[in-house]
Amino acid sequence: MRSLLILIAAIGAQACQRERSFRNHHRHAKRQENNATIPIVLDANEQTLIDSFDNASISTWSYYYTHGAHVAGQNKSMAQWTADRWAEYGFTSRLDEYYVYLNYPVSHSLQLNYANGSTYTPSLVEAVLEEDDVTSYPNRIPTFHGYSFSGNASAEYVYVGRGQQVDFKRLQALGVELEGKIALAKYGGPFRGLKVKNAQEHGMIGAIIFTDPIDDGNVTEAKGVAAYPNGPARNPTSVQRGSVQFLSIYPGDPTTPGYVSKEDSPRADTSLSVPSIPSLPISWLEAQPLLRALDGYGTVGRTVNRTGWVGAIPDVTYSTGPAPGATLSLSNVMEDKTTWIWDAIGIINGTNQDEVVIVGNHRDAWVVGGAADPNSGSAVLIELAKAFGKLLETGWKPTRTIVLCSWDAEEYGLVGSTEWVEEYIPWLTNAAVSYLNIDVAVSGPIPGIAASPDLHTISRSIMKKIIWPYRGTTNRTMYDVWEEEDGEVGVLGSGSDYTSFLHRGIGAIDMGAEGGPDDPVYHYHSNYDSYHWMSTFGDPGFITHKAIGQYLALLLYHLVNDASLPLEPANYGADMKTYLEELNETIASSNGTVDLSALSSAITTFEASAAQFNALRSFAISSNNAELLKVVNHKARDFSRGFTSQGGLPGREFFQNLIFAPGMDTGYAPATFPGITESVTAGNFTLAQEWVGKTARAILVAAAILKT
Ligand SMILES: *[C@@H]1O[C@H](CO)[C@@H](O)[C@H](O)[C@H]1NC(C)=O
Ligand SMILES: *[C@@H]1O[C@H](CO)[C@@H](O)[C@H](O)[C@H]1NC(C)=O
Ligand SMILES: *[C@@H]1O[C@H](CO)[C@@H](O)[C@H](O)[C@H]1NC(C)=O
Ligand SMILES: *[C@@H]1O[C@H](CO)[C@@H](O)[C@H](O)[C@H]1NC(C)=O
Ligand SMILES: *[C@@H]1O[C@H](CO)[C@@H](O)[C@H](O)[C@H]1NC(C)=O
Ligand SMILES: *[C@@H]1O[C@H](CO)[C@@H](O)[C@H](O)[C@H]1NC(C)=O
Ligand SMILES: *[C@@H]1O[C@H](CO)[C@@H](O)[C@H](O)[C@H]1NC(C)=O
Ligand SMILES: *[C@@H]1O[C@H](CO)[C@@H](O)[C@H](O)[C@H]1NC(C)=O
Ligand SMILES: *[C@@H]1O[C@H](CO)[C@@H](O)[C@H](O)[C@H]1NC(C)=O
Ligand SMILES: *[C@@H]1O[C@H](CO)[C@@H](O)[C@H](O)[C@H]1NC(C)=O
Ligand SMILES: *[C@@H]1O[C@H](CO)[C@@H](O)[C@H](O)[C@H]1NC(C)=O
Ligand SMILES: *[C@@H]1O[C@H](CO)[C@@H](O)[C@H](O)[C@H]1NC(C)=O
Ligand SMILES: [Zn+2]
Repeated sequence: MRSLLILIAAIGAQACQRERSFRNHHRHAKRQENNATIPIVLDANEQTLIDSFDNASISTWSYYYTHGAHVAGQNKSMAQWTADRWAEYGFTSRLDEYYVYLNYPVSHSLQLNYANGSTYTPSLVEAVLEEDDVTSYPNRIPTFHGYSFSGNASAEYVYVGRGQQVDFKRLQALGVELEGKIALAKYGGPFRGLKVKNAQEHGMIGAIIFTDPIDDGNVTEAKGVAAYPNGPARNPTSVQRGSVQFLSIYPGDPTTPGYVSKEDSPRADTSLSVPSIPSLPISWLEAQPLLRALDGYGTVGRTVNRTGWVGAIPDVTYSTGPAPGATLSLSNVMEDKTTWIWDAIGIINGTNQDEVVIVGNHRDAWVVGGAADPNSGSAVLIELAKAFGKLLETGWKPTRTIVLCSWDAEEYGLVGSTEWVEEYIPWLTNAAVSYLNIDVAVSGPIPGIAASPDLHTISRSIMKKIIWPYRGTTNRTMYDVWEEEDGEVGVLGSGSDYTSFLHRGIGAIDMGAEGGPDDPVYHYHSNYDSYHWMSTFGDPGFITHKAIGQYLALLLYHLVNDASLPLEPANYGADMKTYLEELNETIASSNGTVDLSALSSAITTFEASAAQFNALRSFAISSNNAELLKVVNHKARDFSRGFTSQGGLPGREFFQNLIFAPGMDTGYAPATFPGITESVTAGNFTLAQEWVGKTARAILVAAAILKT
């Protein structure tokens, strides 16, 4: 599709349900701003919050979360423990329960049958490491795919690259037969469930998805770096578990699309959102013989000439195959269950209960550890509750209500957050100001954020109040480091719990610190995402945990405390103009025409309304008029509801935000003006024109809410 989608395919760390999530950049000019100044000047409340963060106690919380199995729906005591800690610090806490469809691994196997009758049987397990206690836990989690299909498949197989639609088109152009074969796909690029979806839609009967060291930058054994646990390179046996739900179609419990999962909720057919062919994940070490058996058959990898096709596994050519007579026998047995999940919720009522700021992190992990994904965020959230507890002890009360959420079952498909939003949608529509998400708080040292435009200004300015320990230095702010390493706020696609909020018109931010190509390799969704890895390689001393926690705390503080809500609706105007230019180029490079004048004119109207809003807000502040300030704050709270459309995007009713959505064939990475852009990409210009009208109308609704 477009250039921005290629960017996230770049090397580097992977987060929760997302890969390189904060770097979904559009072409904004990097703003030239001065570096922040040290010493930082803080007010007394900010200082109380900052001083409360302690790396030793964060380490204690992290240790707790990473030493017991906590796959979705299997650890209620961890949910209760979280609620209890928040309660100790002054939050009114409870568990919200949902009754949802999940599936759990029972048994699986894979065998390669060579044409000469020999066989190779991958173990499908990650090595037990003496140094890393949780890798040998008797209740450690098998390698499997959440929501995968139970079944057997036995057939010749084809290497399909990263399994994007364009990869399959290329294979068809090369004359490779897909029907009835098993797909061997590489991780990276699109969300894994979409790889399986694409294979299934091409008549393939099973899928194996392997990790490839090409995603590890310079930190590989091939380049002389020792592998975990002896060094920072990838342990060659590591396997990426994960969900194969069709994330870009519908997140949440697949049996209750669009409504909450209670015990007596009616249950829908799931075939539109989960696969109907079996799949398994595998390590690069065990994928190597599978790839090697294809060498010499079909088209050799470099000739296929597709982005991300050739990886870095030694001694293989990434040929397409199939190799006549070489087959895979794949078996995947899952236990289907409709079962309870638990969201921990902690609340401090504000003076204005019709203004609510929500902070969320998921708690469930694919492995016993989960030190980065997601429990770096969970540890931070406890420390944040403690910091606000300290502030409450000084007699401070928030102006706005704070809601902390510890989601369950995010990993299967954002289930805990989606069901919660579906339950509380009337309240949220009326009262939600913003949703702040922290999933993988830390998997490396480089700060990153992605946010809706109204949050850009505050999210950048708070960075200037945080000292960011970075590669041994302690004299730079988070802003300085971010500016140098990244410097752009990403666009939200999907892959974490902000999705349901954003698609009901609630502005959101997602944050986390990631590694670059020369940093220790983060073993995403593997047993090696453990406390031992984190304290040895990921964040020794938990100092990055502390810094990002301080950042989230100050961001939350200003959102719930400032008399004038620190949101900037006008930022949408500038960003929508950029999206419009990109759309215009997409259309120019296609074979059709679309008249964008209605969209262009709606953006102009929005900008005029935002200017009026700014003038009214200045007047409210300078005249210190409390009634007027309330009016202005409510406009800032409400305007982005206008960007949603009840019926949702074409073919995916759930996704209602017409400004940004996960790409249909990317899952993680965003498409902007998705109704129009994706219709153009699909070559349906009639539909694209229809969506110009709908998108323009939505922007005008948002403008009307802002207008004074
Ligand atoms: C900010 O500081 C970095 C070094 O820490 C320097 O490279 C950069 O030029 C500075 N930027 C400005 C605008 O002063
Ligand atoms: C739940 O997690 C806690 C903390 O890691 C652990 O002590 C406990 O054993 C886990 N419970 C189950 C049922 O695995
Ligand atoms: C069968 O082929 C595989 C792959 O080429 C080879 O490793 C194996 O030794 C062969 N087995 C026999 C019995 O020739
Ligand atoms: C690897 O390191 C070299 C030399 O430092 C650098 O030029 C290159 O960009 C790095 N490659 C990647 C993929 O990070
Ligand atoms: C590979 O594809 C690119 C872009 O599609 C094209 O410009 C290039 O010529 C191709 N290279 C080969 C060797 O076919
Ligand atoms: C599926 O394959 C497994 C492993 O080979 C075997 O035990 C099982 O009987 C097979 N099931 C069916 C229904 O064929
Ligand atoms: C917070 O406000 C809600 C709604 O008004 C009320 O039901 C609840 O009891 C309040 N909680 C506390 C701790 O005051
Ligand atoms: C931070 O300190 C290091 C050495 O301690 C120094 O080289 C660097 O210039 C300082 N950077 C700033 C932005 O003060
Ligand atoms: C906390 O950070 C300090 C350095 O700032 C370090 O000496 C200490 O070991 C860390 N504590 C833990 C428990 O990691
Ligand atoms: C779209 O691009 C065309 C040229 O292809 C240009 O004439 C037009 O002004 C652009 N429109 C917008 C809204 O950027
Ligand atoms: C446009 O049409 C030409 C000729 O039919 C075709 O070769 C080309 O691939 C098409 N381009 C796009 C972007 O659809
Ligand atoms: C394009 O979209 C329109 C409107 O939804 C639909 O009726 C038509 O069938 C689509 N055309 C194609 C070629 O898919
Ligand atoms: Zn996660």
